[in-house]
Amino acid sequence: MRTYALLNTLLIVIARSPFIIGNPLNYGWEDEFLKTTEDRIKEHGYPGETHRVETIDNYVITMFRIPYSHKLNNQNEKRPTVLLQHGLLSCSDGWILSGPNDALAFLLADAGYDVWMGNARGNRYSRNNTRLSTLHPYFWRFSWHEIGINDISAMIDHILQTTGETATHYVGHSQGTTVYFVLMSSRPEYNEKIKTAHLLAPVVFMGNMKTVLAKYTRRFIGRPNQLTRMFDTMEILPSTLFFKNIYDIYCMKDPKLAYMCKNLFTLYNGELGRDSNMNMTVSDRMNETHPAGASSTQVLHYMQEYESGRFCQLDFGQKENLKKYGQSTPPDYNLANIDPDGLHFYYSDEDQLASEIDVEYLAAQLSKEPNMFHVPDPTFTHSDFVWSNHVKEMINDRIINACNLYEQS
Ligand SMILES: *[C@@H]1O[C@H](CO)[C@@H](O)[C@H](O)[C@H]1NC(C)=O
Ligand SMILES: *[C@@H]1O[C@H](CO)[C@@H](O)[C@H](O)[C@H]1NC(C)=O
Repeated sequence: MRTYALLNTLLIVIARSPFIIGNPLNYGWEDEFLKTTEDRIKEHGYPGETHRVETIDNYVITMFRIPYSHKLNNQNEKRPTVLLQHGLLSCSDGWILSGPNDALAFLLADAGYDVWMGNARGNRYSRNNTRLSTLHPYFWRFSWHEIGINDISAMIDHILQTTGETATHYVGHSQGTTVYFVLMSSRPEYNEKIKTAHLLAPVVFMGNMKTVLAKYTRRFIGRPNQLTRMFDTMEILPSTLFFKNIYDIYCMKDPKLAYMCKNLFTLYNGELGRDSNMNMTVSDRMNETHPAGASSTQVLHYMQEYESGRFCQLDFGQKENLKKYGQSTPPDYNLANIDPDGLHFYYSDEDQLASEIDVEYLAAQLSKEPNMFHVPDPTFTHSDFVWSNHVKEMINDRIINACNLYEQS
């Protein structure tokens, strides 16, 4: 009986494969699935806006904005801006899923900020390029290097142009911290456009990453080879009904399995076997919005960092590197270019990706030690920096206090 149930489930999952997006067998996820961040912002009564920004290499980035708080009615007052940038396989929805009482985007709006949320090229809101179709492999030929130098810079410029401000606050989670260091080291003039930067679970040096997924795959994909050439520049884990249906089958119908389901999302973070502090409400909303898609090259680039212990550009193999970089190994990002004033690091012991050793090493490479907040909760995981039940007290209130302090000085 059990075997039969298992087989049956397997068949259902296959039948609703990611390629059958408009599958009529679904349980009615589409409505939730098609909602944008703007829709979700407005559901809570806040004003929401959608902005499109074209990068220098023709990707069209979607940004969402909570320009002010309806609770403050502060639309005519001066409002400092803040840019929130999500992690790998995530999207702007991540910043609002915990709702108005806990989610950073709403709390910042209620504190008087003009809140902008970015979306990296290739995710569900930024699958567009005016010259390239998403079906063309060249569309996916980018890593977080390009997201940093082209997407984040374009987003910052758009915010400053729209609002007339000269600088903005920045909050990044995971890959949202990597792209910050890429941009600020490669195009140092952007340092001046940042007031304070809050780097949650900073992923820059990765040699001491703890995730078991990486440990077992590093031999195969840690360096460029035939295998990685087969799998690079591909779309991975796109936002389709596939995962939503798996979640639906397993989690909504059987409360005993619900416990496992919330950890499905930490799995995307490579936190296999870790128990996140996310509650089921947030977990359900995660299922409606995640995973949000990325290029496989982003993952391969991270695996190279793990293997090499360096923070450097993508390794194409000796011959290609010579052509591209004029040297046989990829160049390091120059951390001397980072302005350490106003930098805040937030990190934890249970984080499987940003190990405390690597975060502290990064801090030591900067010309001045940033503000370091080592989360005292020993169960705090990589995803908890955005979705923990305690994210407000532990992280968000601290970010807002630091931004307020800057604005008052
Ligand atoms: C789960 O989190 C949501 C959003 O933060 C909150 O509204 C809800 O009360 C929480 N539920 C439980 C059971 O803790
Ligand atoms: C891509 O962006 C361009 C420019 O904003 C727009 O004209 C076009 O309709 C978009 N394409 C898709 C498929 O959304």
